[in-house]
Amino acid sequence: MSHAEDHEGTRRDFLYYATAGAGVVATGAAVWPLVNQMNPSADVQALASIRVDVSGVSEGSQLSVKFLGKPVFIRRRTAEEIEAARAVSLDELPDPLSQNPNKPNTDASDANRAMDENGEWLVMIGVCTHLGCVPIGNGAGDFSGWFCPCHGSHYDEAGRIRRGPAPRNLDIPVAEFIDDTTIQLG
Ligand code: FES
Repeated sequence: MSHAEDHEGTRRDFLYYATAGAGVVATGAAVWPLVNQMNPSADVQALASIRVDVSGVSEGSQLSVKFLGKPVFIRRRTAEEIEAARAVSLDELPDPLSQNPNKPNTDASDANRAMDENGEWLVMIGVCTHLGCVPIGNGAGDFSGWFCPCHGSHYDEAGRIRRGPAPRNLDIPVAEFIDDTTIQLG
């Protein structure tokens, strides 16, 4: 075998393996949602709605729970956080919408994002709206709210995007207080 043939053989092998590899990846991606759909299993149904006891959440802290496979942040805000969030004017916000299904088609004022009238409770899906990382909380980032280190998205005290590549404010799940200390998600 000449040197040239030898080289070509190596390249063919490489192409073969590369194609086989890509095929495996594509099949995996197509099959997963199908399997998922075929199994509306008991645990998925059970999670369609959960109740969270928030009596132990002190002011200035955050509880994270898992709901429908995603983290949900339940923050009990301090008076300072509420005041800072309410002082922001709407034209400073890259995303002008509340992203709150409990108050559909409303603007991103703090009152439209908070759970209660006083603005003490903020409940959000803890998934960065850029590419899905879980942001860091407890006053993180340049706007004292949440910070996503993946590509540098800064969210404010109301979870609204203020700087960075994320296109939307942090999403809010369907949620309500069913008594003084219990929040129902879903
Ligand atoms: S995933 Fe959060 S900034 Fe990109």
